[in-house]
Amino acid sequence: MTKLSTKYAGLNLSSPLIAASSGLTDTVKNIVELEKAGVGAIVLKSIFEEEILMEMEQVKNAMTGRPYVFPETFDYLDEEPHEDLTRKYLTLIKESKAAVAIPIIASINCVSNQKWVYLAQEIEKAGADALELNLFSLPSTTEAPAGEIEEMYVELVAKVVKMVKIPVTVKISHYYTAMGQMIEKFAGTGIKGIVLFNRYYAPDIDINQESISGSFVLSSSTDVSLPLRWIALSSGKVKVDFAASTGVHDGESAVKLLLAGASAVQLASVIYKRGLNVIDELNHFILNWMKGKKYDSIADFQGKVNYKSTSNPASWERTQFMREFRHFVNQ
Ligand SMILES: Cc1cc2nc3c(=O)[nH]c(=O)nc-3n(C[C@H](O)[C@H](O)[C@H](O)COP(=O)(O)O)c2cc1C
Repeated sequence: MTKLSTKYAGLNLSSPLIAASSGLTDTVKNIVELEKAGVGAIVLKSIFEEEILMEMEQVKNAMTGRPYVFPETFDYLDEEPHEDLTRKYLTLIKESKAAVAIPIIASINCVSNQKWVYLAQEIEKAGADALELNLFSLPSTTEAPAGEIEEMYVELVAKVVKMVKIPVTVKISHYYTAMGQMIEKFAGTGIKGIVLFNRYYAPDIDINQESISGSFVLSSSTDVSLPLRWIALSSGKVKVDFAASTGVHDGESAVKLLLAGASAVQLASVIYKRGLNVIDELNHFILNWMKGKKYDSIADFQGKVNYKSTSNPASWERTQFMREFRHFVNQ
């Protein structure tokens, strides 16, 4: 019998479709609906380092100058961010775990190597099945050299991996000069999975008001080419699982990413655009495609067209349009 089950980052998933970290995954009600709709796992909306630090700062400010507060209290605050945000997040993990059978992956947005990485342990205690580290701040200042910033991310990930027993994965951006090397460095920390790639808030301009307006929030289907290339280039070389994120809008893209070597694909924009029914549509597409090709399991074809396995690996490395596109331009 044809089966959609897959293994990702040490987790057994009934489907390779994962609900990506977003506003869709921040309530127990939504999580229950996503499970019913057919996703194989959930990544909770990220808890943001900046928000926690802001909250700790507010607590510190409120305490400063009070006669009964010892200076050590501030050290304690630095070590243990146990304020409202954290408590709410841990409650979401516990309640989600109680409400659904599929794996719950918690997510922390990390921008710096702060002491509070101990939060990972609290997340583990709350029962999360895995932890996704959403790594990125926009280094818009020119002060820190690239190598320093990259080293900081790798150190942070290594530190978290040491602190917990649950699988840790990283979700990264595509803004690295030597992407292949970064993927290898992250893999060397002991993580179990890499999510390629995150998509960020990107400001837009209103030309009538001549001011900054909203943002390009949702992806489009052509955005999938970036994770497709990098999963194909990396999946046969690096010993971690890969999950695709960005631009998965239909079953065909999901199949392509599995052929490129992904163990799972994450969905956000397509669910925002088309609602929960799209999950069933994608699951059916993958299943029917597998039946047509006589594959019994995802493992039978996963990575079949990646850099290592294809007869024409150089195509994955090519960046320039060459002779065969000449007629396309002339049309
Ligand atoms: C409204 C919205 C909120 C998001 N919030 C988070 C978040 O908290 N943490 C995170 O890692 N990614 C977040 N993302 C990024 C998604 O998880 C996903 O990586 C990105 O949207 C690309 O996938 P897609 O093309 O399926 O939308 C968010 C995306 C959207 C659209």
